[in-house]
Amino acid sequence: MLSPHPALSPPGERGNGAGRASLLDNRVGNRDARTGDHYNPKRSQCSARAMNVSNPNPIDMSVDLAGLVLANPTMTASGTSGYSLEYAPYTDLSRLGAFTTKSITLTPRKGNPPERIVETSSGMLNAIGLANIGLERFIAEKVPELPQLGVPVIVNVAGHTIDDYLAVCARLDPIREIAGLELNVSCPNVADGLQFGTQPRMLNELVQRVREVVRRAKLIVKLSPNVTDICEPAQAAIDGGADVLSMINTFSGMVIDVNTWRPMLANNSGGLSGPAILPLAVHLVHQVYSRVAKHANVPIIGMGGVRDWRDAVQLALAGASAIAVGTALFANPDAPLEILDGLKSYLAQRGMTRWMDLVGKLELHTTGGR
Ligand SMILES: Cc1cc2nc3c(=O)[nH]c(=O)nc-3n(C[C@H](O)[C@H](O)[C@H](O)COP(=O)(O)O)c2cc1C
Repeated sequence: MLSPHPALSPPGERGNGAGRASLLDNRVGNRDARTGDHYNPKRSQCSARAMNVSNPNPIDMSVDLAGLVLANPTMTASGTSGYSLEYAPYTDLSRLGAFTTKSITLTPRKGNPPERIVETSSGMLNAIGLANIGLERFIAEKVPELPQLGVPVIVNVAGHTIDDYLAVCARLDPIREIAGLELNVSCPNVADGLQFGTQPRMLNELVQRVREVVRRAKLIVKLSPNVTDICEPAQAAIDGGADVLSMINTFSGMVIDVNTWRPMLANNSGGLSGPAILPLAVHLVHQVYSRVAKHANVPIIGMGGVRDWRDAVQLALAGASAIAVGTALFANPDAPLEILDGLKSYLAQRGMTRWMDLVGKLELHTTGGR
């Protein structure tokens, strides 16, 4: 059993309102995640677990994220596996393609009071409120541990002003243990309360300014899905100088207690993640890849509801080069490793030798509705 996840609770807090045993148990429609009944039988009759394909040709699972080469496409999603080694007792992090830290802010934050997690149908709603140890403690206590992870590390950075982001990124960029800086732009700006990620002009300015101080690390911009047309902030981030896009952050949501008539979260609203958002993530990755990122040659790290290798294949076909796993880790810390094994078997079974040959290979139907 997992103990309560460090990201969920402030020190001393017990109980998050999310039962691990039932979390993510829901299945989409009549699909079983293990057997993949929804798969087109003409195209694939395989269960990656059962296939055990012996392939004479090793499969090249490597990914090139704008010059940052990962051994394979699996990653952790920010905020779901700590800062460095906290998750190491639960899974072999050295087999990942990359590790992403929780959001780091300039000063330490306690985050929101509990309840800050509530379970939903096929997912969870969280309002952690960027609880984190702050930049200086991260550098002093966590950075020295990063090499032990054995994989490239991406540090997620959050802030409430452009100066916040600049201060954190300028300090982290020279640190060689850090391969990439991922901007969490789903934070309200103190000036007007609007999120950077939902205002393309503001986002463009933020990315341009941060780009000036990020000279060594790869600059990754994590898109918010809470917009009408996600291609606008995607384009704004690319124009501002982003090397890589990651998508998606959580969807804004609310759960109401019907007995008290109050929201379940102390923060009232929160961000929805988990299997419920997978089809939304697939759709948005497809939009950004086909309309913006492919032409600009900017790779996408896809995430949102990924639980097994089939989910990862969907995001890859839609245009994601790498796949991050977040909420699924709470129920299954080995999910990324199982996904990696499943992806290798899937590619082998189809006679493919390179992961990257799958990326963006979605074949749309050409017949529309009448
Ligand atoms: C408990 C929790 C904490 C999160 N904290 C952060 C965070 O600190 N920074 C961030 O950019 N995203 C954060 N996220 C969003 C995830 O990184 C990811 O974008 C989102 O949950 C969708 O992926 P998933 O459905 O696989 O979880 C958090 C998500 C969860 C569930």
